[in-house]
Amino acid sequence: MKCEVVITSKNNKDNSNNRAPIGIFIKGNKEIVMHLYEGSHTYNNLKDEDYFIINICSPYLIAKSVLDDNGNYGYLEYNNCSIPYLKESYKIYLAKITNRKIIESKNEYGSSKIMIVRSSVVLDKDINILPIKPYNRAEGLIVEMAILYSRLNIVNDEKRKNIKDEMEHYFKTIKKVGTKRYIELGKKFLE
Ligand SMILES: Cc1cc2nc3c(=O)[nH]c(=O)nc-3n(C[C@H](O)[C@H](O)[C@H](O)COP(=O)(O)O)c2cc1C
Repeated sequence: MKCEVVITSKNNKDNSNNRAPIGIFIKGNKEIVMHLYEGSHTYNNLKDEDYFIINICSPYLIAKSVLDDNGNYGYLEYNNCSIPYLKESYKIYLAKITNRKIIESKNEYGSSKIMIVRSSVVLDKDINILPIKPYNRAEGLIVEMAILYSRLNIVNDEKRKNIKDEMEHYFKTIKKVGTKRYIELGKKFLE
């Protein structure tokens, strides 16, 4: 199963915190596999750092985390390391990297390097109670907009126009069913 989470990690050169929405594959009980595209801060941080945190959080926070690294961070201390996490998460998992493999990958956007990162969960912690509330369609749509937004900078002008059109399509529904903060975030993706 592939799940969308926010990965938080540390840059060990300038000590800055990083957050990014990432799809993870959960294998069995404790193994997590991620495919990281070259060029992201997460890719660079996890090339060097062995620990990172998997934040289980709301779709809104998943989508928002693609915009910037200005998260509300707390720190988990482990093995003399201080690893950042997002304080609004429901649950966090601390993972230790067990293997990295860099491959060349081709897809509809061209060819790029991918680092396949395997890790093992070493501890977990409940942070906030998951609120019981009815499903709102803006939740799924804002995450779809965030995925498209993250591709805007790696495509040519023609594809960029198609992506923008697709984002506009999702945004129409968000405007109908979403609350103010979803609409504000959708607008940012379209700026
Ligand atoms: C829901 C979602 C899932 C994503 N999954 C991945 C992924 O599995 N691998 C990846 O390299 N980028 C993925 N991205 C794109 C990164 O989040 C994006 O490139 C981000 O800007 C990286 O941030 P960073 O430079 O702070 O690491 C995903 C984006 C979204 C919105």
